[in-house]
Amino acid sequence: MMRNLLEKGLETESSGNKKQAVELYRKAIEILQRDFARADAVEKEKIRRRMASLQSVITGLEGHTPQSTGLDEGALKTIEELGLSVISSHQVKFKDVAGLEDVKRELFTKVIYPLRFPELAKDFNVFVGGGVLFYGPPGNGKTFLAKALAGETSMNFIYVNPSTLYSKWFGSFEKNINSLFTAARGLTPCILFFDEIESLFPVRDERSSEASRRGVSQFLNEIGGFQSNGSSELLILGATNVPWVLDPAVTRPGRFDRMVYIPPPDMAARETIIRHQMEAVSRKGEIDYGQIATSTEGYSAADVEYICRYSAQNAFLKAVNGDEKSRITTAELMDSLKTIKPSVSSGLMERYVQYGKLRGSVPSQ
Ligand SMILES: Nc1ncnc2c1ncn2[C@@H]1O[C@H](COP(=O)(O)OP(=O)(O)O)[C@@H](O)[C@H]1O
Ligand SMILES: [Mg+2]
Repeated sequence: MMRNLLEKGLETESSGNKKQAVELYRKAIEILQRDFARADAVEKEKIRRRMASLQSVITGLEGHTPQSTGLDEGALKTIEELGLSVISSHQVKFKDVAGLEDVKRELFTKVIYPLRFPELAKDFNVFVGGGVLFYGPPGNGKTFLAKALAGETSMNFIYVNPSTLYSKWFGSFEKNINSLFTAARGLTPCILFFDEIESLFPVRDERSSEASRRGVSQFLNEIGGFQSNGSSELLILGATNVPWVLDPAVTRPGRFDRMVYIPPPDMAARETIIRHQMEAVSRKGEIDYGQIATSTEGYSAADVEYICRYSAQNAFLKAVNGDEKSRITTAELMDSLKTIKPSVSSGLMERYVQYGKLRGSVPSQ
């Protein structure tokens, strides 16, 4: 009964129906309250915590920020000293990310729920902790989705791009990694996001410097540490376009062991992106959205956006040059396809599919 309610709640919540999800979670709390009366002391404590996490989910869904207390000043200062910043007011939500419905659902079951219901996760031996790695061809929403995940859960978000940190952190890499994780723990619930993580973890060889090796082991230890205190509300996220250059140690159990493939947009998602881009354009003529979506098979989400912007620019130039009737039309958009080609070749796409097969998770597209 309880499980059913939570599952239904998850389903409705990930499909965007927050109101109904709140009702389901309220019902779950009622059931817990009944159990509470009958429970012994140990069980009571468990139930109390479960009710508290459900309550904070409801508060989040109703649009209030779950944390009433301010952010830990010391932790904030450390993050700043490391040349980073904490984002706690979020612009992007799941609904802004076109398509990827399966991925969003997977994130709920693999990430959001275990964080919210640590006790239940333990009861069912569902793994909490470690990190989640997004991989897939560039321009399809890995970075975007990480931000949306923070927005969806109202978690604090620390964005780290290791390639820019290397020079800034030169000589104190190991120490800084440690400070970063300590500070992030002080800012929970928090997502610590390492974008383009391959620059942090290239396959180690004889050319790797001693300092970078030590920094990397420090990092792996920090992530591995979550396995033992699984209920931590710190989520480690990583993203990469080139998963095959990662050191194999990185994807071992307890590290980035949950890998999520982020595919290019399918036809429906491409149409959503085009419609969204065109919303802001008032001077448009007839646009056959279905036709453009069909003709952009193999293009990334960012490519599709670019096609729209490029077409708008061309129509604008025509207007500047005196064509008062200039509008964006199907023809204008189709014309742009002659100039703009997919940024990812089919050969490279095949490589992601092969990689997914090797890892035992076959990408759906
Ligand atoms: N699924 C998507 N839905 C809507 N827009 C997207 C999507 N994926 C990418 N975009 C657009 O493309 C831009 C680049 O995407 P990004 O997340 O940086 O790609 P990646 O990190 O996978 O290389 C985003 O800022 C967004 O404007
Ligand atoms: Mg990115």
